[in-house]
Amino acid sequence: MTHDDVSSPSADDGFLTEAGRHWAEQLHGWGVPEHILAQAEVPPWAHDPATFAMDDTVDPASPIFEMARELLPIDGGSVMDVGCGGGRSSVPLAPRATHITGVDENPAMLAKFATACDEIGVAHAEIQGKWPDAAIEAEVHGAPLAPRDVVVCHHVVYNVQNIEAFVVALTAAATLGVVVVLPKRHPQSAWNEGWLHFWNLKRPDGPTSDDFVAVVRALGIEPEVVEVPRPPLSRHAAQPSQLAQSARRRLCLPEARLPEIEAWIRDHPPAFMSEVVVVRWPGGLS
Ligand SMILES: C[S@@+](CC[C@H](N)C(=O)[O-])C[C@H]1O[C@@H](n2cnc3c(N)ncnc32)[C@H](O)[C@@H]1O
Repeated sequence: MTHDDVSSPSADDGFLTEAGRHWAEQLHGWGVPEHILAQAEVPPWAHDPATFAMDDTVDPASPIFEMARELLPIDGGSVMDVGCGGGRSSVPLAPRATHITGVDENPAMLAKFATACDEIGVAHAEIQGKWPDAAIEAEVHGAPLAPRDVVVCHHVVYNVQNIEAFVVALTAAATLGVVVVLPKRHPQSAWNEGWLHFWNLKRPDGPTSDDFVAVVRALGIEPEVVEVPRPPLSRHAAQPSQLAQSARRRLCLPEARLPEIEAWIRDHPPAFMSEVVVVRWPGGLS
Protein backbone atom coordinates (compact mmCIF):
# COMPACT_ATOMS: atom_id res chain seq x y z
CA MET A 1 0.00 0.00 0.00
CA THR A 2 1.10 3.49 -0.51
CA HIS A 3 0.40 5.48 2.39
CA ASP A 4 3.99 5.70 3.48
CA ASP A 5 4.14 1.97 4.21
CA VAL A 6 1.23 2.32 6.57
CA SER A 7 1.69 -0.17 9.34
CA SER A 8 -0.58 0.11 12.33
CA PRO A 9 0.54 3.05 14.51
CA SER A 10 1.56 1.89 17.98
CA ALA A 11 2.39 3.55 21.28
CA ASP A 12 6.10 3.33 20.38
CA ASP A 13 5.83 5.22 17.12
CA GLY A 14 7.12 8.43 18.66
CA PHE A 15 4.26 10.78 17.79
CA LEU A 16 4.77 14.23 19.24
CA THR A 17 1.07 14.98 19.61
CA GLU A 18 -2.29 13.25 19.91
CA ALA A 19 -3.32 15.00 16.67
CA GLY A 20 -0.38 13.36 14.87
CA ARG A 21 -1.31 9.92 16.23
CA HIS A 22 -4.96 10.43 15.30
CA TRP A 23 -3.98 11.35 11.72
CA ALA A 24 -1.83 8.21 11.38
CA GLU A 25 -4.46 5.94 12.90
CA GLN A 26 -7.11 7.18 10.52
CA LEU A 27 -4.82 6.84 7.47
CA HIS A 28 -4.13 3.27 8.53
CA GLY A 29 -7.84 2.55 7.97
CA TRP A 30 -7.33 3.17 4.22
CA GLY A 31 -5.20 0.06 3.85
CA VAL A 32 -6.57 -2.29 1.20
CA PRO A 33 -7.38 -5.76 2.63
CA GLU A 34 -4.65 -8.27 1.82
CA HIS A 35 -6.88 -10.66 -0.18
CA ILE A 36 -7.91 -7.79 -2.51
CA LEU A 37 -4.36 -6.44 -2.85
CA ALA A 38 -2.98 -9.92 -3.59
CA GLN A 39 -5.06 -10.27 -6.78
CA ALA A 40 -4.54 -6.66 -8.02
CA GLU A 41 -2.88 -6.51 -11.46
CA VAL A 42 -1.45 -3.02 -10.83
CA PRO A 43 -0.66 -1.19 -7.57
CA PRO A 44 -3.81 0.68 -6.50
CA TRP A 45 -2.10 3.80 -5.22
CA ALA A 46 0.23 4.68 -8.12
CA HIS A 47 -0.25 8.07 -9.80
CA ASP A 48 -0.32 8.41 -13.60
CA PRO A 49 2.16 11.19 -14.57
CA ALA A 50 -0.09 12.20 -17.52
CA THR A 51 -2.87 13.18 -15.08
CA PHE A 52 -0.57 15.57 -13.25
CA ALA A 53 1.05 17.23 -16.27
CA MET A 54 0.63 20.98 -16.84
CA ASP A 55 -2.13 21.88 -19.31
CA ASP A 56 -4.54 24.72 -20.02
CA THR A 57 -7.01 23.61 -17.31
CA VAL A 58 -4.68 25.16 -14.69
CA ASP A 59 -5.89 28.64 -13.65
CA PRO A 60 -2.95 30.76 -12.41
CA ALA A 61 -5.44 33.23 -10.87
CA SER A 62 -6.89 30.59 -8.50
CA PRO A 63 -6.53 31.41 -4.78
CA ILE A 64 -4.45 28.23 -4.43
CA PHE A 65 -1.72 30.14 -6.30
CA GLU A 66 -2.59 33.67 -5.15
CA MET A 67 -1.98 32.71 -1.52
CA ALA A 68 1.56 31.62 -2.40
CA ARG A 69 2.19 34.50 -4.81
CA GLU A 70 1.29 37.01 -2.08
CA LEU A 71 4.22 35.73 -0.03
CA LEU A 72 6.79 36.08 -2.80
CA PRO A 73 8.79 39.31 -3.20
CA ILE A 74 7.46 41.57 -5.99
CA ASP A 75 10.76 41.31 -7.86
CA GLY A 76 10.75 37.53 -7.73
CA GLY A 77 11.59 34.73 -5.34
CA SER A 78 12.32 31.04 -4.97
CA VAL A 79 9.80 28.23 -4.51
CA MET A 80 10.11 24.60 -3.48
CA ASP A 81 7.26 22.32 -4.56
CA VAL A 82 7.10 19.16 -2.44
CA GLY A 83 5.38 16.32 -4.31
CA CYS A 84 5.52 18.49 -7.44
CA GLY A 85 4.11 15.93 -9.88
CA GLY A 86 4.18 17.51 -13.34
CA GLY A 87 4.34 21.06 -11.96
CA ARG A 88 0.63 21.97 -11.77
CA SER A 89 1.17 23.13 -8.18
CA SER A 90 4.07 25.55 -8.76
CA VAL A 91 4.75 26.36 -12.43
CA PRO A 92 1.76 28.81 -12.44
CA LEU A 93 3.65 30.84 -9.81
CA ALA A 94 6.10 32.01 -12.50
CA PRO A 95 7.06 34.71 -13.33
CA ARG A 96 6.75 35.84 -9.66
CA ALA A 97 8.60 32.62 -8.87
CA THR A 98 11.95 33.04 -10.58
CA HIS A 99 13.34 29.66 -9.50
CA ILE A 100 11.37 26.51 -8.69
CA THR A 101 12.74 23.35 -7.08
CA GLY A 102 10.59 20.28 -7.59
CA VAL A 103 10.80 17.45 -5.06
CA ASP A 104 9.17 14.14 -5.93
CA GLU A 105 9.85 10.48 -5.29
CA ASN A 106 8.75 9.61 -8.83
CA PRO A 107 11.35 10.37 -11.56
CA ALA A 108 8.68 10.32 -14.31
CA MET A 109 6.86 13.16 -12.50
CA LEU A 110 10.11 15.13 -12.14
CA ALA A 111 10.76 14.79 -15.88
CA LYS A 112 7.34 16.31 -16.61
CA PHE A 113 7.99 19.05 -14.04
CA ALA A 114 11.32 19.93 -15.73
CA THR A 115 9.68 20.04 -19.18
CA ALA A 116 6.90 22.31 -17.89
CA CYS A 117 9.48 24.72 -16.39
CA ASP A 118 11.51 24.74 -19.62
CA GLU A 119 8.40 25.45 -21.68
CA ILE A 120 7.70 28.68 -19.82
CA GLY A 121 11.37 29.54 -19.31
CA VAL A 122 11.58 29.50 -15.51
CA ALA A 123 14.81 28.34 -13.85
CA HIS A 124 14.40 25.04 -12.03
CA ALA A 125 16.05 22.19 -10.13
CA GLU A 126 14.86 18.71 -9.27
CA ILE A 127 15.35 16.60 -6.15
CA GLN A 128 14.31 12.98 -6.42
CA GLY A 129 13.33 11.55 -3.06
CA LYS A 130 10.72 11.19 -0.42
CA TRP A 131 9.91 14.12 1.85
CA PRO A 132 11.04 14.65 4.58
CA ASP A 133 13.70 11.94 4.17
CA ALA A 134 15.32 13.86 1.28
CA ALA A 135 15.78 16.93 3.49
CA ILE A 136 17.06 14.89 6.44
CA GLU A 137 19.52 12.93 4.25
CA ALA A 138 20.86 16.18 2.76
CA GLU A 139 21.42 17.49 6.30
CA VAL A 140 23.14 14.27 7.41
CA HIS A 141 25.46 14.35 4.37
CA GLY A 142 26.59 17.87 5.24
CA ALA A 143 24.82 19.53 2.31
CA PRO A 144 21.57 20.84 3.83
CA LEU A 145 18.93 22.08 1.43
CA ALA A 146 19.03 25.86 1.15
CA PRO A 147 15.70 27.25 2.40
CA ARG A 148 13.48 28.72 -0.32
CA ASP A 149 11.25 31.78 0.06
CA VAL A 150 8.06 29.75 -0.23
CA VAL A 151 7.31 26.03 0.01
CA VAL A 152 4.16 24.69 -1.61
CA CYS A 153 2.70 21.21 -1.32
CA HIS A 154 -0.54 20.30 -3.13
CA HIS A 155 -2.41 17.01 -2.89
CA VAL A 156 0.27 15.08 -1.01
CA VAL A 157 -0.45 15.06 2.73
CA TYR A 158 -3.04 12.25 2.66
CA ASN A 159 -0.15 10.08 1.48
CA VAL A 160 1.90 10.78 4.60
CA GLN A 161 1.57 8.80 7.79
CA ASN A 162 4.34 10.56 9.73
CA ILE A 163 2.71 13.93 9.21
CA GLU A 164 4.42 15.78 12.08
CA ALA A 165 7.95 15.33 10.66
CA PHE A 166 6.60 16.20 7.21
CA VAL A 167 5.10 19.51 8.42
CA VAL A 168 8.16 20.44 10.50
CA ALA A 169 10.44 19.85 7.49
CA LEU A 170 8.18 21.93 5.19
CA THR A 171 8.35 24.77 7.72
CA ALA A 172 12.13 24.56 8.08
CA ALA A 173 12.56 24.65 4.29
CA ALA A 174 10.71 27.99 3.89
CA THR A 175 11.82 31.46 4.94
CA LEU A 176 8.58 33.32 4.14
CA GLY A 177 5.80 30.77 4.25
CA VAL A 178 4.31 27.37 3.50
CA VAL A 179 1.14 26.77 1.45
CA VAL A 180 -0.45 23.32 1.63
CA VAL A 181 -3.49 22.47 -0.51
CA LEU A 182 -5.62 19.41 0.24
CA PRO A 183 -9.13 18.20 -0.41
CA LYS A 184 -11.51 18.27 2.57
CA ARG A 185 -11.63 14.49 2.62
CA HIS A 186 -9.20 11.76 1.61
CA PRO A 187 -8.87 11.84 -2.21
CA GLN A 188 -9.75 8.16 -2.46
CA SER A 189 -13.16 8.99 -0.97
CA ALA A 190 -14.19 9.64 -4.57
CA TRP A 191 -14.17 5.86 -5.09
CA ASN A 192 -16.05 4.90 -1.89
CA GLU A 193 -19.22 4.04 -3.78
CA GLY A 194 -17.15 1.88 -6.12
CA TRP A 195 -15.57 -0.03 -3.21
CA LEU A 196 -19.02 -0.74 -1.85
CA HIS A 197 -20.37 -1.79 -5.26
CA PHE A 198 -17.50 -3.98 -6.46
CA TRP A 199 -16.15 -5.31 -3.12
CA ASN A 200 -18.85 -4.62 -0.52
CA LEU A 201 -16.19 -2.71 1.40
CA LYS A 202 -17.01 0.38 3.48
CA ARG A 203 -14.18 2.91 3.48
CA PRO A 204 -13.19 5.23 6.40
CA ASP A 205 -14.60 8.73 7.01
CA GLY A 206 -11.27 10.31 7.92
CA PRO A 207 -8.81 11.85 8.16
CA THR A 208 -10.11 15.19 6.89
CA SER A 209 -8.60 18.61 6.28
CA ASP A 210 -9.73 19.53 9.83
CA ASP A 211 -7.50 16.75 11.15
CA PHE A 212 -4.57 18.14 9.14
CA VAL A 213 -5.15 21.65 10.54
CA ALA A 214 -5.30 20.12 14.04
CA VAL A 215 -1.85 18.59 13.48
CA VAL A 216 -0.40 21.94 12.37
CA ARG A 217 -1.92 23.69 15.43
CA ALA A 218 -0.71 20.96 17.78
CA LEU A 219 2.82 21.69 16.56
CA GLY A 220 2.43 25.27 17.83
CA ILE A 221 1.72 26.85 14.42
CA GLU A 222 -1.35 29.04 13.86
CA PRO A 223 -2.24 28.67 10.16
CA GLU A 224 -4.65 30.58 7.93
CA VAL A 225 -7.25 28.19 6.57
CA VAL A 226 -9.29 29.05 3.46
CA GLU A 227 -11.74 26.87 1.56
CA VAL A 228 -11.81 27.51 -2.19
CA PRO A 229 -13.43 25.92 -5.27
CA ARG A 230 -11.40 23.02 -6.55
CA PRO A 231 -9.61 23.83 -9.81
CA PRO A 232 -10.53 21.39 -12.61
CA LEU A 233 -8.69 18.13 -13.00
CA SER A 234 -6.45 17.86 -16.02
CA ARG A 235 -8.17 17.28 -19.39
CA HIS A 236 -6.64 13.83 -19.45
CA ALA A 237 -8.26 12.72 -16.18
CA ALA A 238 -11.69 13.94 -17.26
CA GLN A 239 -12.08 11.43 -20.13
CA PRO A 240 -14.48 8.52 -19.30
CA SER A 241 -12.01 5.93 -20.62
CA GLN A 242 -9.26 7.40 -18.42
CA LEU A 243 -11.62 7.44 -15.43
CA ALA A 244 -12.37 3.76 -16.05
CA GLN A 245 -8.62 3.02 -16.07
CA SER A 246 -8.27 4.94 -12.78
CA ALA A 247 -11.21 3.10 -11.26
CA ARG A 248 -9.80 -0.24 -12.34
CA ARG A 249 -6.45 0.58 -10.67
CA ARG A 250 -7.88 2.23 -7.52
CA LEU A 251 -10.42 -0.57 -6.98
CA CYS A 252 -7.96 -3.42 -7.70
CA LEU A 253 -10.13 -4.80 -10.53
CA PRO A 254 -8.84 -6.83 -13.52
CA GLU A 255 -8.41 -5.24 -16.94
CA ALA A 256 -10.92 -7.74 -18.34
CA ARG A 257 -13.68 -5.91 -16.43
CA LEU A 258 -12.94 -2.49 -18.01
CA PRO A 259 -16.14 -2.41 -20.14
CA GLU A 260 -18.26 -3.20 -17.06
CA ILE A 261 -16.38 -0.55 -15.02
CA GLU A 262 -16.81 2.09 -17.74
CA ALA A 263 -20.55 1.38 -17.93
CA TRP A 264 -20.86 1.65 -14.15
CA ILE A 265 -18.92 4.91 -14.06
CA ARG A 266 -21.26 6.53 -16.57
CA ASP A 267 -24.08 6.18 -14.01
CA HIS A 268 -21.89 6.64 -10.92
CA PRO A 269 -19.23 9.26 -11.67
CA PRO A 270 -16.54 9.39 -8.96
CA ALA A 271 -17.42 11.89 -6.24
CA PHE A 272 -14.43 14.20 -6.74
CA MET A 273 -14.58 17.02 -4.21
CA SER A 274 -15.72 20.42 -5.37
CA GLU A 275 -13.68 22.30 -2.74
CA VAL A 276 -10.10 22.25 -1.56
CA VAL A 277 -8.63 23.74 1.58
CA VAL A 278 -5.60 26.02 1.51
CA VAL A 279 -3.55 26.02 4.71
CA ARG A 280 -0.88 28.72 4.94
CA TRP A 281 1.58 29.46 7.72
CA PRO A 282 4.85 31.37 8.24
CA GLY A 283 8.15 29.72 7.35
CA GLY A 284 11.13 29.10 9.61
CA LEU A 285 11.34 27.22 12.88
CA SER A 286 11.26 29.52 15.89
C1 LIG B 1 -1.48 13.63 -6.28
S1 LIG B 1 0.08 14.03 -6.96
C2 LIG B 1 0.04 15.84 -6.90
C3 LIG B 1 1.03 16.48 -7.81
C4 LIG B 1 1.05 18.01 -7.80
N1 LIG B 1 1.43 18.52 -6.50
C5 LIG B 1 -0.30 18.57 -8.20
O1 LIG B 1 -0.98 19.18 -7.37
O2 LIG B 1 -0.67 18.38 -9.37
C6 LIG B 1 1.17 13.64 -5.62
C7 LIG B 1 2.64 13.67 -5.98
O3 LIG B 1 3.40 13.66 -4.78
C8 LIG B 1 4.42 12.68 -4.88
N2 LIG B 1 4.67 12.25 -3.49
C9 LIG B 1 3.80 11.65 -2.65
N3 LIG B 1 4.35 11.52 -1.42
C10 LIG B 1 5.59 12.07 -1.49
C11 LIG B 1 6.64 12.25 -0.55
N4 LIG B 1 6.53 11.85 0.73
N5 LIG B 1 7.78 12.84 -0.97
C12 LIG B 1 7.92 13.25 -2.27
N6 LIG B 1 6.96 13.10 -3.20
C13 LIG B 1 5.80 12.53 -2.82
C14 LIG B 1 3.89 11.64 -5.84
O4 LIG B 1 4.94 10.95 -6.49
C15 LIG B 1 3.10 12.50 -6.82
O5 LIG B 1 3.89 12.97 -7.88
